[in-house]
Amino acid sequence: MLFQIKSYLQFLWKSKNEHAVHSPFVFTLITKCFYDRKPKADYRVLKKYRNSLLENSNTIEIKDFGAGSKVFKSNTRPISKIAKTAGISRKRAELLFRITAYFQPSTILEIGTSVGLATSALALGNPKAKITTLEGCKETARIAQEQFAKFGLTNVNSVVTEFSTTSKPSTTNRKPST
Ligand SMILES: C[S@@+](CC[C@H](N)C(=O)[O-])C[C@H]1O[C@@H](n2cnc3c(N)ncnc32)[C@H](O)[C@@H]1O
Repeated sequence: MLFQIKSYLQFLWKSKNEHAVHSPFVFTLITKCFYDRKPKADYRVLKKYRNSLLENSNTIEIKDFGAGSKVFKSNTRPISKIAKTAGISRKRAELLFRITAYFQPSTILEIGTSVGLATSALALGNPKAKITTLEGCKETARIAQEQFAKFGLTNVNSVVTEFSTTSKPSTTNRKPST
């Protein structure tokens, strides 16, 4: 406990705010993106997307790829609970939305869709981006796909695949190794 208090005090002592940042790139990123507290119309869409999952009491049979779940005892899981436990938090979804809107990436690869909470933030952050999202559990992917259709997120390509069997990205644009 004493160690944690000491570490926290050291962190407070050493930490700096955005005024101590000298790089214009990082300064603008922090002030215009990370610390942007202005409300955004799309946050309401993110909230509706989340609520529509939280209100969904249907259950699905999931395929577990990990070492099992500490929260769930069975693979038959309510969609509302999956949204609550497996997905990105509201604050982080809003941050992801801002980062995507700020950098405007033209292509995005998401590894692990679950029910699409993070995907929705990516898709709304840059509606022009071509998003590919991978999910190995067919039933979970189906719920995400239904959500994308319901919320008109047409820039998302949902691929049902195990990560290990997905082919590697093309290497044609890479520099030859010396
Ligand atoms: C933590 S969740 C993703 C959360 C999501 N990105 C979000 O924030 O809303 C991870 C997802 O990856 C899937 N997954 C895990 N390991 C996988 C694997 N080896 N192949 C395919 N899918 C996998 C799981 O089924 C799960 O839905």
